[in-house]
Amino acid sequence: MLVLPHSRGEGDAIRRGEEFAELVSSAGAEILASIPARVENPNPRFYIGSGKADEVAEAVRALEADLVLVDHELSPVQERNLEKHLKTRVVDRAGLILDIFAQRARSHEGKLEVELAQLKHVATRLVRGWTHLDAQRGGAIGNRGPGETQLETDRRLLAERVKMLTRRLEKVQVQRDQQRRARLRNTVPRVALVGYTNAGKSTLFNALTTGGVYAADQLFATLDPTVRKVDGLSCGPAVIADTVGFIRELPHDLVAAFRATLAEARDADLLIHVSDAADEERELLRRVVDEVLEEIGAGDVPQLSVMNKIDLIDDLAPRVDRGDDGKPVRVWLSAQAGQGLDGLREALGELLGGERIRADIELPLTAGRLHARLKAAGAIASEAIDEHGWHLGIDAPRAVLAPLLGDDVHAGSLRDLIEPAPADF
Ligand code: GTP
Repeated sequence: MLVLPHSRGEGDAIRRGEEFAELVSSAGAEILASIPARVENPNPRFYIGSGKADEVAEAVRALEADLVLVDHELSPVQERNLEKHLKTRVVDRAGLILDIFAQRARSHEGKLEVELAQLKHVATRLVRGWTHLDAQRGGAIGNRGPGETQLETDRRLLAERVKMLTRRLEKVQVQRDQQRRARLRNTVPRVALVGYTNAGKSTLFNALTTGGVYAADQLFATLDPTVRKVDGLSCGPAVIADTVGFIRELPHDLVAAFRATLAEARDADLLIHVSDAADEERELLRRVVDEVLEEIGAGDVPQLSVMNKIDLIDDLAPRVDRGDDGKPVRVWLSAQAGQGLDGLREALGELLGGERIRADIELPLTAGRLHARLKAAGAIASEAIDEHGWHLGIDAPRAVLAPLLGDDVHAGSLRDLIEPAPADF
């Protein structure tokens, strides 16, 4: 049974209701009924009005619902009051999202993060539940019944588990940071996919990397960043990370808990911001995503916008929109139908590759290793050899050439051409 509180100024209530219903289905619950509830002044006792609470209680009885999900954050006291009034279990929006996160977390780190966030959520409820009981009994000092002792044990065990999980998580995060730094040293450009949940990030990730990441019509199908290599870009290979889907009113604890996932976005050279082009609310959802990005310190990372799912819109062909400076700003495509992916690859190559270097150079015969590296990278357009060495026609993005030179002492005239390297590579 769903309760859908809404107030003026909270946007499209129907759309929000649908989104919540989708979240609930993701969690595997069957929806017996949805009850909208207009809330202008939240009732401190139930959050919803008491008349509405009676109506929900009636529906719970009639339909024999065993769970009531409320699309709003409830205080622990409100949740308890509602449970008593409805005589059934009540879970609020934060609890539901945590539940879905718990089901979907796949990596060791993701699981630890979710369990930690869940325990913290439960902890506030245990503590407040305790004070609430206390007050009800008129502060029963010295009257420690078995229930209370159990509660205290629960709280102690909970605190220990939180401490242990935090320690483990810190360790895993250090490891992940080390891995990320190793990737940074690699000088390969890094791209992160971001976007509102269900926009099609995992589908696009798969299409670009031909990997096998789980994509499903379920919110939050992606909980852990998966990093893969993308080939076929004019700038040479790049690495791409899929990140968790954003959603409005993400419980704040979770934003913090998922910092590791979102760090991929913060450290990226470029963000691909994926939107569902067929979604009327896409601009609003873009702003939600941008706000979270700002919050995690990724607000300044350059973005390429991807309008996905164009197959759902009549007469819309894939295309690349460019800004005043001629650079790609928006790519219209369908990740599922595989339309417009070439345009995206081109745009990525341009944005990541920077300037293309075309020049004739000479390399001494002693620079055999460098010659082989240039050849393997496809940077040689023409070549001739005589007693002075190789005469090469070079044609490649600066970003491909720069890492090839390394500290090769034979790079000579080629190094002069490509330095100074742009600051972000
Ligand atoms: P989260 O992990 O929840 O953040 O979702 P996501 O953004 O990774 O979305 P995902 O790739 O899982 O896709 C969500 C749904 O949209 C799936 O049912 C996909 O099949 C569908 N989808 C993705 N791309 C397209 C597309 O180009 N066209 C259509 N029609 N559907 C698509």
